[in-house]
Amino acid sequence: MTQHVTTALPADATPDDSARREWWREAVIYQVYPRSFADGNGDGMGDLPGITARLPYLKRLGVDAVWFSPFYASPQADAGYDVADYRAVDPMFGTLTDAAELVREAHALGLRVIVDVVPNHCSDQHAWFREALRAGPGSPPRERFHFRSGKGEGGHLPPNDWESVFGGPAWTRVEDGEWYLHLFAPEQPDFNWDHPAVHEEFHSILRFWLDLGVDGFRIDVAHGLVKAAGLPDIGHEEQVSLLGKQSVPYFDQDGVHEIYRSWRRILQEYAGERIAVAEAWTPTVERSARYLRPDELHQAFNFEYLTTGWDADGLRDVIDRSLRAMNAVQAPATWVLSNHDVVRHCTRFADGDAARGLRRAKAATLLMLALPGSAYLYQGEELGLPEVTELPDEVRQDPAFFRSTGQGGRRDGCRVPMPWSGQRAPFGFGPAEGGPSWLPQPAGWRDLTAEAQDGDPSSTLEFYRRALAVRREHPALGAGRDVEWLDAPEGVLAFRRTSPRGTFVCTVNLSAAPVVYPTPGTVLVSSADVTPGATATNLPADSTVWWAA
Ligand code: GLC
Repeated sequence: MTQHVTTALPADATPDDSARREWWREAVIYQVYPRSFADGNGDGMGDLPGITARLPYLKRLGVDAVWFSPFYASPQADAGYDVADYRAVDPMFGTLTDAAELVREAHALGLRVIVDVVPNHCSDQHAWFREALRAGPGSPPRERFHFRSGKGEGGHLPPNDWESVFGGPAWTRVEDGEWYLHLFAPEQPDFNWDHPAVHEEFHSILRFWLDLGVDGFRIDVAHGLVKAAGLPDIGHEEQVSLLGKQSVPYFDQDGVHEIYRSWRRILQEYAGERIAVAEAWTPTVERSARYLRPDELHQAFNFEYLTTGWDADGLRDVIDRSLRAMNAVQAPATWVLSNHDVVRHCTRFADGDAARGLRRAKAATLLMLALPGSAYLYQGEELGLPEVTELPDEVRQDPAFFRSTGQGGRRDGCRVPMPWSGQRAPFGFGPAEGGPSWLPQPAGWRDLTAEAQDGDPSSTLEFYRRALAVRREHPALGAGRDVEWLDAPEGVLAFRRTSPRGTFVCTVNLSAAPVVYPTPGTVLVSSADVTPGATATNLPADSTVWWAA
């Protein structure tokens, strides 16, 4: 087997490498949404040089790795998840040289880099799709996509009853009368993964970015690549959403696993533990675990955890089931509360009361960071950013918004650019005060900027920094595979984690009132003010406390 040694990953870049084998098993991975992170050139859109300049902020925050949503050449019909060229950086975000520089700088700071790969579909501007359109029905270029004749008189009806995740039929008719499949927007034609050229092309794309030095991939719609033979009708009326649990002939088909086995082999050819994480919306955590068998991928997002509410029984159940399912395949569990597709957890947990939302969000984060495995953070949650719910229709860009109700058209509200500093929008997102930002930020974000929170011990930012620093140092945090549940009153979760070098207890009061609990030790970090008593402590409502026992 070839060992590729890349120059972009200098041997001395991550000094803790040898000490932390399998770094990904307990990594905290921070998601950067490039268009909304930092705008280096002042055009209102985030870019790679902007991100590079802010990497020291992420280092100081205390994360291990950064995952970047797509920055590839794209007409941006779905904010970059419609890729026209997988080996080019969109000019809007910079150049390939900027990408190499970003990877180099991140490595110099000891941060790993994970990039998005979008294998289910490309852009309708991708060279292969344009060629397929030109070449016409029955031609070999069409076989790399799903082209079919329609049903009904003159073929005027779609070939089957599949619906797009963004709403409307999953088929669009082209001028010569054939239809093509797109599980997402019409600008995102699905690849035909029965075609060997598609496999080869993605192997080559993986190698391209691995050669550039990236440490891994986040696989977009990893559960969608293979469609059931014959593209059978679903036969029911309900809308299928990305967050849905329905069993459908185009998601989570057994054939996807062979693809990931071949990807794993490629990752293993490279030095430095390169990984892949699946975005796979499967019906159960057990189905997700199938993507993580030892010869497949390393991690999968735990969307069942993300979609569980602020509820003690529900959380305990999903934590137990996740650990059991992942332990069975020797994969780390992962935990996530927010990303660029869902309402920010601060707002999800608010029930109409913003202060309560932030209280619960901090408590939920501290719980997540106490669990064994790897945790994902989404940019801005460390500032306590809420969802922006008041965006005017004319600034919205989410294709789901324009195509009906797929995800409620709500994905722009979690994508509003980061507030960094100053008193006026765009709050340091771009270089000029009063300059543009692709989505407007609320005026109240002046109090939430990184600058406003820096050094304030009561701020959300300092809370995240503290929690991540303690997680990094305490041997019983993150590592391991299990939690030991302790007796606790209703509405309270308490668990212990033990390592040879220290024992740690986490208490979470999910109820609306304080609860008296036997003091487990000394406070390491807490999401709310807590005054430990000699024998018993009042756990504040909606709070999590980490204790050294
Ligand atoms: C994934 C992405 C989402 C995108 C969709 C289609 O779910 O997270 O943002 O719209 O795939 O690529």
